Amino acid sequence: MRNVAQRFDTAAQSYDAHSAAQRHAAERLAERLVTLNLPPRPRVLEIGCGTGHLTAMLSQHLPGAAIFATDIAPRMVAACRARFDHLPQLHFAVMDGTRPAVGGPFDLICGNLVAQWFDDLPAAFSGLAALLASGGALLLSVPGSETFREWRAAHAGLGLTAGTRALPSQADCLAALPPGDNRIERELWRDAHRDGLSFLRALRAIGADTPAAGHRPLSAGQLRRVLAALGPRPALSYEFLYLCHRRS
Ligand SMILES: C[S@@+](CC[C@H](N)C(=O)[O-])C[C@H]1O[C@@H](n2cnc3c(N)ncnc32)[C@H](O)[C@@H]1O
Repeated sequence: MRNVAQRFDTAAQSYDAHSAAQRHAAERLAERLVTLNLPPRPRVLEIGCGTGHLTAMLSQHLPGAAIFATDIAPRMVAACRARFDHLPQLHFAVMDGTRPAVGGPFDLICGNLVAQWFDDLPAAFSGLAALLASGGALLLSVPGSETFREWRAAHAGLGLTAGTRALPSQADCLAALPPGDNRIERELWRDAHRDGLSFLRALRAIGADTPAAGHRPLSAGQLRRVLAALGPRPALSYEFLYLCHRRS
């Protein structure tokens, strides 16, 4: 089975046309930058930059920053680099955020909708927080466990289990953050699709279609019944969790 990085790599070209939810979360995450009181020329590390929805916000809101944009998928990094090549304060690298191969300290480490792909959230968060300068901030958005609840309910009503990966709850995220000044804000957001199939196709088009470990694909008949249960023009929920950890 293809792994997470390969799926995102394959999706680098189709990502932008299907990532309204990711763009929305990047904008909401960036609104929190002004509350951080960063130094005038902050050193910034972005994890999971993708094609650059959050990178664009960072370069706009932090014009004096040196921004190091990274992603585990080489073609995502290439797409992001191509978009921002004209900006000398941006640097790019292929990097797994759970094994950051970069020297700190950073005033800001951020990532939009990437941490849900980390297998061990507490270990990953403390690895990143260790790269923060004193007073530095770790700012992340994470899709919470309420995300796609309609999709899971359509399966459950038929005695089936959805293949979408389990997502962390707000309490899971809070418990995973290292000690410090921690806060999480929550937003519910809905994304309408023409039908259930176009929801599945959009997940594939952005590369976010890695199933839960051990999930057995539905038969064609089971999938048809799930799509019928979901109904026409389904609005799928996203629970966006905005995490902020401040190193003292
Ligand atoms: C849903 S996309 C979000 C991309 C971008 N942040 C945005 O706002 O559109 C998730 C991104 O995280 C990357 N990713 C997944 N696991 C990662 C990891 N362990 N380290 C770094 N990047 C990772 C994927 O390659 C993908 O580009």
